[in-house]
Amino acid sequence: MASIGRQAPSISLIAQCKTRLNQVVTSFSSTSSPVVHSRSFSIFSVKRTGTCRAATVGLGFNRWVSTVPVSSKKTRRKTGEILSTLLEVGGVKISRDDVVRENDPTNNVPDSIFSKIGLQLHRRDNHPLRILKQEIYSYFDNNFPGLFNKFDNLCPVVSVKMNFDDVLVPHDHVSRTYNDTYYINAETVLRCHTSAHQAELLREGHSYFLVTGDVYRRDSVDSTHYPVFHQMEGFRVFTPVDWEASGVDGTSYAAMDLKKTLEGLAQHLFGNVEMRWVDAYFPFTDPSFELEIYFQGNWMEVLGCGVTEQKILINNGRTGSTAWAFGLGLERLAMVLFDIPDIRLFWSSDLRFTSQFSSGQLGVKFKPFSKFPPCYKDISFWISESFTENNFCEVVRGIAGDLAEQVSLIDSFTNKKGMTSHCYRITYRSMERSLTDEEINQLQGRVRDEVENKLNVTIR
Ligand code: DAH
Repeated sequence: MASIGRQAPSISLIAQCKTRLNQVVTSFSSTSSPVVHSRSFSIFSVKRTGTCRAATVGLGFNRWVSTVPVSSKKTRRKTGEILSTLLEVGGVKISRDDVVRENDPTNNVPDSIFSKIGLQLHRRDNHPLRILKQEIYSYFDNNFPGLFNKFDNLCPVVSVKMNFDDVLVPHDHVSRTYNDTYYINAETVLRCHTSAHQAELLREGHSYFLVTGDVYRRDSVDSTHYPVFHQMEGFRVFTPVDWEASGVDGTSYAAMDLKKTLEGLAQHLFGNVEMRWVDAYFPFTDPSFELEIYFQGNWMEVLGCGVTEQKILINNGRTGSTAWAFGLGLERLAMVLFDIPDIRLFWSSDLRFTSQFSSGQLGVKFKPFSKFPPCYKDISFWISESFTENNFCEVVRGIAGDLAEQVSLIDSFTNKKGMTSHCYRITYRSMERSLTDEEINQLQGRVRDEVENKLNVTIR
């Protein structure tokens, strides 16, 4: 088992935890109208629209520290706030020095991400993500009483094997790169999807399960993207007894059951909406689908799913079975169901946000409180070959936290000497107060310094 500490830390996180693509499928299985949305929540899916990147992701409402600090050890971050240095998730102790190692080239986890581990928004009373989680639980409990086991406290520190190999993610898949995933070291990551737990739960003997958890992805900065978001994974195994009487084969049986189950779930959450199935590609399922609903004038992707690859079942002690699996992004659905306009709000502890939601009340519409004015700052630099937008966004998030509302490339050109210049516009805005010119100038000054020092670019 890999140990992630500098000099073999007392506990190996992994031991404690126990632990983009080729083919484009082009046909729609039901209707054939075009897909409207421009981004998929899944980094793993490829479909007709050719879109591919994560949903929901962003900055840190960093005034929170760990929900479960196991020691009073604290450190002061560069941003000035206090950070717990030791926390516990699902019985696993995680120390800051194990997770954030600035001088280790195999590590790319910043403090701003460490500060989110253990916050578990999906377990917070009256939080919209918890309300949504409970509503999905109710659907499964009502329709399959006592069948599905629920896990919502599994440690997000997982091995590369669990996150990628066990679910058959190809070795050259873009999601494995340091640009897309947070690596603690070469063998250990912050899970980028809840599918990372499929294999371990199968091996432990579970056949019907729902896994909810925080997932981590390096990404852009805008109202629907945040580097930590929440997913729910569903899994159901069938044995020949289940399908033999039906007259169809095990794979067709699983696919039929999957579609029926998830259409029921979408109806439970969204009411009587129009739905369609879109053929998709995921490494872990075949066939693979995405479910879309027609909601508020647009086709919206609700989840990705499919019939589990036989290899996963065989590798984990389920030869002769079939199974279905699905994965959905909780923020994406909650933003629509509760009318929440900005993904950063999920992290807010402002009473004007938190007091609007209460347990059991799905679909209460969020009433925006006053919108404070944005402040725009542009920055231009000559990029180097190693420059990536995700790295730039992370510098901005690391300095401005949740004050960074959006980062957008507004100009790009290459001069005669072959040098490429990028100009980014950063939108700063607090959801809670007016920002002063002085503090924004200070933040922008720090962004300029750090971009130059860390990203090997030349400010123009
Ligand atoms: N893991 C996928 C993602 O994060 C979502 C997903 C798609 C999960 C299909 C599944 C599935 O279990 O069958 O993008």
